[in-house]
Amino acid sequence: MRRRFLLKAGLAGALSFGPRQYLKAKSDSGTSGKGSFSMDGHRLGFYHSEIKESFNIMMISDTHLFMNDEREEPFRQYSGRMAGAYNKTQHFQTGIDTHPEECFSRSLSLAKENGVDLIALIGDIFSFPAEAAIEWVTGKLRETGIPFIYTSGNHDWHYEGMTGSMESLRQEWISKRLLPMYQGEHPLMSTREIKGVLFVAIDNSYYEIVPEQLTYLNQAIATGKPVVLMCHIPMYMPGRGLGYGCGHPGWSAASDRNYELERREPWRQDGHTETTMLFHKTLFDAPNVIGVLSGHVHRYSLDVFKGIPQITADANAKGARLDVAFDPFPQ
Ligand SMILES: [Fe+2]
Repeated sequence: MRRRFLLKAGLAGALSFGPRQYLKAKSDSGTSGKGSFSMDGHRLGFYHSEIKESFNIMMISDTHLFMNDEREEPFRQYSGRMAGAYNKTQHFQTGIDTHPEECFSRSLSLAKENGVDLIALIGDIFSFPAEAAIEWVTGKLRETGIPFIYTSGNHDWHYEGMTGSMESLRQEWISKRLLPMYQGEHPLMSTREIKGVLFVAIDNSYYEIVPEQLTYLNQAIATGKPVVLMCHIPMYMPGRGLGYGCGHPGWSAASDRNYELERREPWRQDGHTETTMLFHKTLFDAPNVIGVLSGHVHRYSLDVFKGIPQITADANAKGARLDVAFDPFPQ
């Protein structure tokens, strides 16, 4: 299956940081620089000495689209619960009744109005992988003409009650349905560089990191350029619950309360893999990681771990998003 990812999704995304390229980049810049960070509701600002030119991005997560058509008939037993989960929502600012499709469309219009250089779609855009929803989203994104990057959340590929490991089900349903969202790049890891800042999207949708993703992160860090990591499940933060579960020391089968409801295999018996724990350490020890953007918990939050801010976005199902500005650091 991994082979299938590589063949179908292409090597370009996964290998965009060859050793030669990263050595060159490191010698060109190689400094972690100085910076600051601000947050005002859904508006974030990153200021950094390595940023020479201002730009904006929009991050969207947890739209939970549930639209589907007759092609979904054979899968209703697996998608029924989530198809009824977010049919009506209240707008995060006005409290007025709305729904995920309207919120997603409006967010894309705002992205266009704001002239963003990137739309980052960070998981649970879909409540399950229905063709109709995926076609609608890819069509809408194409209409904007704005570059986008996508990584999956725990729901995008998940048909509840299907047998198989999380790893194999993720591979299967990404390959069968979600590939158009990745635009030929590796589904588990990809990068966009905008004006010298690397936006690295990592799929941690079942809370775990695989060794190739750790290598990929190391390569991004080794460029010396400012790195913004984006992943659906927030990284572990002291004092936070298991929603902030990637690298959480309390994460294990014993603490998994939702596996029966979500009809999936429980989390790992003996907690996170060493790779996942090392990914967390590597990320927050890096001198040039300037921030982490996540979703999943359906609320705005900010933590600062070892000086690096991690921000979660409220759900786009209710219109929420992150409008993120990047500017030079005033000397
Ligand atoms: Fe999620």
